[in-house]
Amino acid sequence: MKNFKRYTVTAALPYANGPKHIGHLAGAYIPADVYTRYLRSAGRDVLFVGGSDEHGTAIPNQALKENTTPQAIIDKYHALIYDCFKKLGIAFDVYHRTSEQLHHQTSQEMFLDLYNKGLLTEEVSEQYYDEEAQVFLADRYIVGTCPRCGFPNAYGDQCENCGSTLSPRELINPRSTLSGKAPALRETKHWYLPLQQYEGWLKEWILKDHAGDWKANVYGQCKSWIEAGLQPRAMTRDLDWGIRVPLPGAEGKVLYVWFDAPIGYVSATRAFYEEMSSGKLKYAQPQRDFGKVKADDWQARWKDPETKLVHFIGKDNIVFHCIIFPIMLKAHGEFIVPDNVPANEFMNLEGDKMSTSRGWSIEMHEYLEDFPDKPDVLRYCLLANLPETKDSEFTWKDFQARNNNELVAILGNFVNRALVLTQKYFDNKVPERGPLEDVDKAVIGELKALPERIAASIEGYRFREATAGLMDLARLGNKYLAETEPWKVFKSDPARVGTILNIALQIAANLAIVGEVFLPFSMKKLNTMLKTESKTWKYAGSDILLAEGHLLGDSQLLFDKIEDDVIARQLKKLHDKRNAMDPIRTAIKPLKPEITIDEFSKLDIRIGKVLSAEKMEKSNKLLKLTIDTGVDKRVVLSGIAQHYTPEEMVGKQVTLIANLAPRKMMGIESQGMVLMAEDGGGKLKLLQPSELLNPGSIVS
Ligand code: 2FM
Ligand code: ZN
Repeated sequence: MKNFKRYTVTAALPYANGPKHIGHLAGAYIPADVYTRYLRSAGRDVLFVGGSDEHGTAIPNQALKENTTPQAIIDKYHALIYDCFKKLGIAFDVYHRTSEQLHHQTSQEMFLDLYNKGLLTEEVSEQYYDEEAQVFLADRYIVGTCPRCGFPNAYGDQCENCGSTLSPRELINPRSTLSGKAPALRETKHWYLPLQQYEGWLKEWILKDHAGDWKANVYGQCKSWIEAGLQPRAMTRDLDWGIRVPLPGAEGKVLYVWFDAPIGYVSATRAFYEEMSSGKLKYAQPQRDFGKVKADDWQARWKDPETKLVHFIGKDNIVFHCIIFPIMLKAHGEFIVPDNVPANEFMNLEGDKMSTSRGWSIEMHEYLEDFPDKPDVLRYCLLANLPETKDSEFTWKDFQARNNNELVAILGNFVNRALVLTQKYFDNKVPERGPLEDVDKAVIGELKALPERIAASIEGYRFREATAGLMDLARLGNKYLAETEPWKVFKSDPARVGTILNIALQIAANLAIVGEVFLPFSMKKLNTMLKTESKTWKYAGSDILLAEGHLLGDSQLLFDKIEDDVIARQLKKLHDKRNAMDPIRTAIKPLKPEITIDEFSKLDIRIGKVLSAEKMEKSNKLLKLTIDTGVDKRVVLSGIAQHYTPEEMVGKQVTLIANLAPRKMMGIESQGMVLMAEDGGGKLKLLQPSELLNPGSIVS
C-alpha cells in the first residue's frame, strides 16, 4: 500500500434546500468523520472538507414551495445543516458554501480551462420548455415517471426512489414543476463534456488499477456505467440560478450543478488556506494545528500525487464522483484523482425508504431536539448499522437496544465499575501494579492488539467492523473484571486488587483514545473522569497510560438507559409526521356508520358495458354513457370527464348501481350510477372486474 504524505478527505456537499436526515449521516458524514478523526489522531496530515451545495434547480424549487427567494433558502438551510453537523460532532476543518464568490471564480476557471483546451463540445439540442413559465426545464424543474422503477415523481436528473441517474427526456409523462403542465421541446445550445473520450482511461484507472481496493458496490456501478458506453454530458443549463457560464453569447446560462458542486471541494480548500494564512477565519475551523500555512498551499492538497484524495458519498452520487468529476480533473491535467470513493448504500427506516418529502425520516435537527445530550448514541447506532455493502435499516427498537445493551451495559458499565472500585478501595488513585498473573498478561496482550485491528478496519473503510472492535475493547475490560472478581478478593489480597484495577484503568484509558474517533462527546467525558488529556492514537495499546498514584476525577455515568416510553413516543411521532405530510393518507375519510346485510342486498350492483360515450355540452365534468346492463340499454351520466375521454370509455366494462332512482341532470335523466374509486389524491379510477364478464353479471 502506498504511503501518502497528506490526505484530502471530502464528504458530499448537501443541497442546502432542506434539512438532512440520519440516512445522509450514515451514507457519508459519520464514516468520513470517523476516518478523519482517526487520521488526525494517528498524526497524519489530513484536511476534512465540507460545505453546502447551493446551486441547481433543487434550490429555486424549494424557494417556490416556501414562497421565498433562493437566497433565503440557502441561508436558512446552510445554517441549519452546519449547526446539526457541529452538534453531532462531524468535525470539518472547513465548511464552505458554493454561493461564495471564491467558488464561482474557481468553477469558472475550471470551465474556461477545459473550454480553452478545446475539451468541451458545443451542441444545439431540443430540451423541455415550459411555455407558460417561459423557461427551459432543467433537472429538477421537471418530474415524471421513472423509466427504471415506475416511481411517479422522479426528477429529470435522478429518481429518488431507485437512485438511478436520469435525463429529462427519459421520464415518462414529464411535467413541469413550475406550471404542472406537460412541456414542449425547444432548441437550445449547451457545452458538453465528451465522457466517451475518456473510456479507455477509466477502464485503466478504475477497472484495472482499483479492482482490488474499491468497494464492490462502487466498483460494480462504475463497471456497468463504463461498459454500457458513456455519452457526452451537458455541463451548462438554461437557468437563472447558478454560476454564470463565462463565455460571450452565454447569457441566461449557468454551469450544471454537478459541474460546479464537486469543484466546491477545491474552493473550500482554497478558502481554508486563504483564511488560515490571513488569520481571518470565516469558514475554516481547523481541527488540529496546521502550523504556518500559505494561501497557495491548497494546490498541494489537489495537485500533488503524494496526496490521498478520498470522497465520502452516498450511492446516488457514485457516477459524479467516480466518472464525471474525475474526468474533469483528468482533462484539466494538473489535478489528482480520488484514491478511493467509499460510497455507502442507503439506510432505510422502520421497513421503508427514508424520505424527507414523504415525511418518513428522522431529520438531524429533530433528533437533536429530542436527544440533545445523546449525539454519540446516534453516532454509535448508525455506525453499527452502516449500509456499507447493502442497504441497511434504522429502527427505534434497535436504537434502544444498542444504547441499553451495548453503550450502557458494556462500555458504560465497564468504565463505571473500574472507576467506582478504584474510588472505593484506593481513594480514587491509580493503584500500584504487582506481579502479573497469566490472566493479566493475556488481557494486556489483547489490549495491545486491538487498536491495530481497529485502525486496519478504519483504513480499509470497514467502519462497522471498526465499531465492533471498539465494543470488543470494552468487552475485554468487562470479561477481565468478571474473571478476576476484585470485589471478592479485596479483603484477602488488596495488592492483587490494585494490580487488577490498574490494568482495568489502563483499558479505560485506551477506550478514551480509540473511542474518541467514534464517540467524541462521551470520550471527552471519560477523559475528565480519568483526569487525563486526550491522547493520540500512537498511545493506543499501551498498558501504562495512567501512572501509579494518578488521582482520578469524579465518576459519572457515560450513558443512561432509554426507556420503552421514549421509543414509543418516537415511533408515534414518525407515523404522525408521515400521515400529516402525505396528502393521500390525510384525505382518507373515516368509516361510515355500520349497515346490515339486508340493507346492502337492496343494492342491485352489476357489470355493464359502455356502448357509446359523449361529452355533455356546458359541463366539463359529465360524460353521457350508454350502457348495456344485460337487461336493458340505458343512459347514465357520470362525473368522469376529467379522468377519461369519451373515446377511452367506449367498450369499457363498468360497475353500475342499476336500481338507483333516476335523476335528471342538465335536462337528461341518468338511470344509475357508475362506481369509481378515489385514492384521496383527487384521481378517479373506474371499478372494473379483473376479467371480462358478461353484461348483467351481478356483484354481491
Ligand atoms: O446529492 C447531493 O446532495 C449533492 N448536493 C451532493 C453534491 S456532492 C459534491 F459534488 F459537491
Ligand atoms: Zn426509479
